[in-house]
Amino acid sequence: MAEVSKVGVVGLGAMGGGIAQLCIEAGVPTVGREVTPELGEKARDRIAHFLTRKVEKGQLDAGARDAAVARLSLTTDLAELADCDLVVEAIVEELAPKQELFAELERICRPDAVLATNTSALSVTEIASSVSTPERVVGMHFFNPAPLMPLVEIIRAELSSDDAFETAYAFGERLGKHPIRCHDTPGFVVNRVLIPLLNDCIRVLDEARVTVEDLDAGMKHGAGWPMGPCELVDLVGIDVHVHASEALYDKLREPRMAPPPRLVAMRNAGLLGRKSGCGFYAY
Ligand code: CAA
Repeated sequence: MAEVSKVGVVGLGAMGGGIAQLCIEAGVPTVGREVTPELGEKARDRIAHFLTRKVEKGQLDAGARDAAVARLSLTTDLAELADCDLVVEAIVEELAPKQELFAELERICRPDAVLATNTSALSVTEIASSVSTPERVVGMHFFNPAPLMPLVEIIRAELSSDDAFETAYAFGERLGKHPIRCHDTPGFVVNRVLIPLLNDCIRVLDEARVTVEDLDAGMKHGAGWPMGPCELVDLVGIDVHVHASEALYDKLREPRMAPPPRLVAMRNAGLLGRKSGCGFYAY
């Protein structure tokens, strides 16, 4: 199993930024790659904001925050990930750009570096098919918001080596997560169950003529969910949820996987949830 002393994170959006935050908090020097310096700096500001909130709440001391932020270096140049032991990809959820990126990472990174994808609904095996060393490719699927959700799914693709798989598992533990092992099947474990469940919830909105607030209250107070389904898709992003539903429906052909028309209409109208300022709720 490889020792991970430096990590690369490609894509510093909501998920990649959260993953980079976890790495620097765990004491691991991390190189974050974004396509422009401005996007990189925006991600670093966001991470610094969340760490400062921890300082304000007495969960972290100011020195530890500063040391963590100093562990994050930003780049727009993928070549700067050359000496990383593990690279986690968190770019757009499209197969072709991910395959292109992995092919480039294979050229840049050391042969023993583990290459992980944070994909939530694509096949890790298909992503790995773009490289000539697929044994070093695994899935590390974090949940949103990554710094707060304890789970990480460690996904074994068809050709993943035991070494790469166990390196990713051990690294998940080192980040303070609860890792679980699974194989590369559509939606892996949690999304295979959660996506159709959330789609059912949205369909019930119209069927039961219940309000958004009452549906959320129902699932919180009647099923013990930490947040209601409408709050949750607003958090995840309506576009992200619709896209993941479509990807799972394409593979499984189960009607419950298909995105409800109401969510597709919201996505088309730009009502994307928290990130756009409006979804089921206004932010
Ligand atoms: N990154 C880092 N830190 C964050 C953050 C983020 N995105 N969001 C919030 N925080 C920090 C904030 O500093 C916050 O404190 P302040 O508000 O005082 O600044 C602190 O975390 C605590 O936040 P909350 O008070 O909101 O925490 P909470 O106790 O209410 O729990 C929650 C929040 C963990 C999100 C909880 O509501 C929960 O578990 N919700 C369910 C989330 C879920 O199901 N996620 C999975 C989505 S599906 C998915 O991700 C799969 C996929 O592939 C798309």
